[in-house]
Amino acid sequence: MSAQADVKRFTAPDIRARKGGEPIVSLTAYHAHTARILDRFCDFILVGDSLGMVMHGLETTVPVTLDMMILQGHAVMRGSRRALVVVDMPFGSYEASREQAFMSAARVMKETGCGAIKLEGGAHMAPTIAFLVERGIPVMAHVGLTPQAINALGGFRARGRDPADWGPFEDDARAVAEAGAFAVVVEAVAEPLAARMTRDIAIPTIGIGASAVCDGQILVLEDMLGLSPRVPKFVKRFGDLGPSIEKAVADYAAEVRARSFPGQAHVYAVKSK
Ligand code: KIV
Repeated sequence: MSAQADVKRFTAPDIRARKGGEPIVSLTAYHAHTARILDRFCDFILVGDSLGMVMHGLETTVPVTLDMMILQGHAVMRGSRRALVVVDMPFGSYEASREQAFMSAARVMKETGCGAIKLEGGAHMAPTIAFLVERGIPVMAHVGLTPQAINALGGFRARGRDPADWGPFEDDARAVAEAGAFAVVVEAVAEPLAARMTRDIAIPTIGIGASAVCDGQILVLEDMLGLSPRVPKFVKRFGDLGPSIEKAVADYAAEVRARSFPGQAHVYAVKSK
């Protein structure tokens, strides 16, 4: 048996059981090597469709395809062994019908080996969530700011700043919980609204720009490492890798231009007898 098989991965029910308990730690990853680093610290790793913006330089997540998600989902599964891996369903792969959602989600799970999928939407997606869950697909929902709806929303602004607007957001959180989602990402909503959602539903809320009142937190890894060109205002930088990479690349370029050998010279040296 491989060493990999000795470690038990977190499951969707494990995450669900953390409601109101120890805060749930999560980050996004799209590659095997970053997943390997995150795996020690994260309860779940999200292969987010933010990969469209972070890896591919797209303006929005709208053009991301199922094939892109499956390729990176597979990489993250290879790099991790302890964290639950959740793969995002991209725009256009699940909204048309419950059957379309099942076919897409089943493909993601079979081809990546991930333990759950995530989809955006609240009350209007509840019947789809129930359909998937009844057929063995654990679903994480995503409410508040839903970036795949950017063209309808008109921008990435925070939601629920005016208490008069809270009703539909609270209904969304309640509907996805009642439909059987095991957790829900709550993105960019005002703290008192996040607090009400967290208090009122039986599943963990995973905040991103929704304050510390949520049951867990998630950030896009490259945003918190200072590697993304455009970072939402709420993101705290825990690292500043951009300048370190720039310096390393500049040093390398200078060595190449100076005809200095940019490697371990002794590796290629002729052996003396
Ligand atoms: O795509 C993504 O990375 C996400 C997180 C921002 C929650 O959905």
